Parts: sequence; C-alpha cells; structure tokens
Amino acid sequence: MAAGRIVLVTGAAQGLGRGIAQAFAGKGDFAIVADRDAAGAERTAAELSGQALPLDISDAAAVSAAIAAVLAEHGRIDVLVNNAGVVGGGGLLADLDVAVLDAALAVNVRGTFLMTQAVARPMMAARSGVIVNVSSIGARQPTPGMGHYEATKAAVDAITRTTAIELAPYGIRANAVAPGPVITPLTAGLAENPEARAAWERRIPLGTIAEVAQIAPAALFLASPEASHITGVSLALDGGQLLA
Ligand SMILES: NC(=O)c1ccc[n+]([C@@H]2O[C@H](COP(=O)([O-])OP(=O)(O)OC[C@H]3O[C@@H](n4cnc5c(N)ncnc54)[C@H](O)[C@@H]3O)[C@@H](O)[C@H]2O)c1
Repeated sequence: MAAGRIVLVTGAAQGLGRGIAQAFAGKGDFAIVADRDAAGAERTAAELSGQALPLDISDAAAVSAAIAAVLAEHGRIDVLVNNAGVVGGGGLLADLDVAVLDAALAVNVRGTFLMTQAVARPMMAARSGVIVNVSSIGARQPTPGMGHYEATKAAVDAITRTTAIELAPYGIRANAVAPGPVITPLTAGLAENPEARAAWERRIPLGTIAEVAQIAPAALFLASPEASHITGVSLALDGGQLLA
C-alpha cells in the first residue's frame, strides 16, 4: 500500500517526530500525532490535517486504550513510528542518579516495547504493517555521560530485530533509523552553544549536525514499498560519525 496509509507517530508534537509525521502527511498519508504533550499534539495534528492522540507511551493501560480507540475509528494502523524518546539528564555511569536511568528506560524501552506489542496483534491479523523505530548511533558508539540513554537505544535496536524476525511470517517489516545528533528542541541547548556544537561537529566527517529534514526521508523510505526486502536493520544517519 502506498499513500493514504494510517500512520501513527509517537512523540510527534515536536522535533524529529513532528518532521517524520510531516513527511508522511506530505505524501498523502493520514498522520496520528501521539504525544504526552496534548497541546503540542493538537497543534501539530492541526498543521498536518491529522489527528492528535494524547498518550504517555510508558503507561500500559493508556497504550492499550489508545490503540483500541484508533482501530475502532480507522480500522487499521498501517505504519507505527516509535519515535518518542527522552534523555532525561546525563552523567558518568559511576555517578548517575538512578531516577535518570529509570526515566529513560520507561519511555525509550518500555514505551517502545508496549507500543509494538499493542500494534502487533492487529497487524498480524491484517497480515500487513510496517514499524519504524527511532534509535541512535549512541547504541553503537559511546559518549561519556550518555551511557544510560545509549543502553536504552541498544535495547531499541534489539526490539527492532525481535519484531522483524517474529513478525516476518506475517509480512510485517520492522526497521530503525539511528541518527547522530539532530537539531531539535531536545538538542537546542547544544546547538546554541558554539563550543559544544563545534565539539560535536568535530566528530562528524561530513561536518555538521543533522537537520530533521535529513532524517525524516529515511523513515519514509523504510516504511515504503521500495524497502519491501529490508527488515531488522538500524540505519545510521550520522554524517559518517561511526567511521571516525
Ligand atoms: N535530537 C537528536 O540529536 C537525536 C539523535 C538521535 C536520536 N534521537 C531520538 O529521536 C527521537 C525524537 O527526539 P527529539 O530530538 O525530536 O526530541 P524532543 O524532545 O524534541 O521530542 C520528543 C517528543 O516526545 C514526546 N514524549 C516524550 N516522552 C513521551 C512519552 N512517554 N509518551 C509520549 N510522548 C513522549 C515529547 O513530549 C516530545 O514531543 C527520540 O527517540 C530521540 O532519542 C534524537
């Protein structure tokens, strides 16, 4: 199926999720903007002629109810983009406050897992569906102070592979995009600080932090029929950072 798909993007009120939802809507798909920021979800949904879905993806009961409501209204979810994620702070492993670890685990791992679980049965019944997760190259390359977050993204890559192998018999594909740093509200502080920005950019062979518009097309591609033989990959979009 090409355009006109029902596409649910988590964390789509702002940042990368908003850009991804925008890219799908631009191709004629219907974007469901799921976010725990209800006002932000309403704003983005209005811009995209889509639908807002206020939702905390770490809340199992809320996830079940939200997916049931979407299915009752639209009959199907063709594409799930598990984009919502948090960093929640930073610190060296030896010092990190365990609350920071727990907050990142709750959204990035538990939330991604719960959303995938909730769409799996309906997609299996339809024998159709695509899932795109948002990982990070941090899953493969450590940056001191980001270990808690990187561990959650390594888990996202593992969930991607599990989803891909378990749902392949039903014709369902699952892949991930794994960006390096991207300019979004999450990284605004970094981008506005010239020294911090230069330090990041020195690690990137292509020389610049990514814009959302350099990442969103890859999510669109992985969800498209052109990617029909691709499943289980986590595609680095990092200006070559993993090479350096
Ligand atoms: N910005 C980067 O440099 C970068 C790099 C690699 C990967 N990523 C990943 O991209 C994704 C999007 O990041 P971003 O930079 O756009 O961040 P952001 O903070 O700008 O946006 C994240 C969105 O997710 C929503 N959200 C957070 N927790 C949620 C929850 N429990 N339930 C529902 N919604 C929730 C927030 O309300 C927000 O709208 C994340 O998974 C992040 O880890 C970002």
